[in-house]
Amino acid sequence: MAPRSRLGAWLLCLAAAAAAAATTTAPPVEATALPAGAAAYAPPRLYAPDCGSCGVARWGFVCLPSPGRCGGTAAAACAVRTPPTRRWWSTLAFDCVTVSADGDGATSRAYQATIGRVYNQTVEDMVAAVKTVTAPPGTFVPSVVGRIRPLGTFDNLADTLEYFYGMLTLEGITVEAADLTWFVAQPPYAAAAVSLRLRFAASNTTGRASHIGTWRFDDAGLVSGYDLEFAGLTEMLAGWGLDYSSAPFLAAVAVPTLCARIGERCSGENAAWPSVEDCVAALTALPPSRFEAGNNVACRQFHSSLTAFRPEVHCPHVSREGGGKCIDRPFDSFYDDGASVLGFPWESPAVRTGA
Ligand SMILES: *[C@@H]1O[C@H](CO)[C@@H](O)[C@H](O)[C@H]1NC(C)=O
Ligand SMILES: *[C@@H]1O[C@H](CO)[C@@H](O)[C@H](O)[C@H]1NC(C)=O
Repeated sequence: MAPRSRLGAWLLCLAAAAAAAATTTAPPVEATALPAGAAAYAPPRLYAPDCGSCGVARWGFVCLPSPGRCGGTAAAACAVRTPPTRRWWSTLAFDCVTVSADGDGATSRAYQATIGRVYNQTVEDMVAAVKTVTAPPGTFVPSVVGRIRPLGTFDNLADTLEYFYGMLTLEGITVEAADLTWFVAQPPYAAAAVSLRLRFAASNTTGRASHIGTWRFDDAGLVSGYDLEFAGLTEMLAGWGLDYSSAPFLAAVAVPTLCARIGERCSGENAAWPSVEDCVAALTALPPSRFEAGNNVACRQFHSSLTAFRPEVHCPHVSREGGGKCIDRPFDSFYDDGASVLGFPWESPAVRTGA
């Protein structure tokens, strides 16, 4: 009951002060104008509230925030103490708090730098990284998982390195520029668009395409997950003369070249087709398509690049059956990858519980 009696005492003081003021002509609200002796009626020190590390007492009973007491940096703020510990008649206390780990943008800049490093490797480094299944320094965590639509899901480090570094290198494609055209970070995620300018050695021409999507980072700022769209891939390849939607190109160029490569790389225990002729006959009969996953020539072209690294893993993907990769799958199933493979909390609870 101490607070209540203190309040009572304070009210008595207030009443006394009012009575004293009433007997004078000085305005009671201005401290400088209080009559001699009025100070005796000011609330005793006992009632000075605990205002916290950055709260300042005013009028003896209320605390106001004073952000200047927190050092004046963007990373610190003067915030209401939570949970408030006072009773209703009392006041709030204020403490200096760190706004967030990214109050000064350091985390955001670290994420940007990581994305930069992912694309900023020399061709030689890329091959070494893929062969030894070692992520280039400052890029991916060993447990990384991700997907690139429309190519597929890469649920381990070897898959990820083969995709980012192996395929391009083997096809004589180099990254000439990777520009972050937009970027926004909300730790541990960042959403970004990376505009790529790639050079194709065979024709010595460049083309542009974009990786657009979301990245997830670990505490050290390395990529632990990614969910990207490869926008413009089909069009970029077509610009290089690799038009997988063209039946004449498939029949005259793509299929014969692809089947010859498969015959060389997938032999013995890893044989994907009984013969090159079988391969040519079956793949020529498939309809042209965009450059995407599915039971098509483009998908087998993509996976045939990877047979150079792990033929036992990738040769089944270029076979007639498609090894679970180059197969027709229901369009809806692509949506399941996000939850089941990546485990990202992309959906908000409100969406999940919606009717
Ligand atoms: C990319 O490589 C260039 C040349 O080696 C280097 O100057 C630059 O700092 C690198 N950028 C990133 C983000 O690693
Ligand atoms: C490729 O083209 C660039 C100009 O776009 C030129 O500087 C370079 O010498 C060419 N490389 C070859 C191998 O022809």
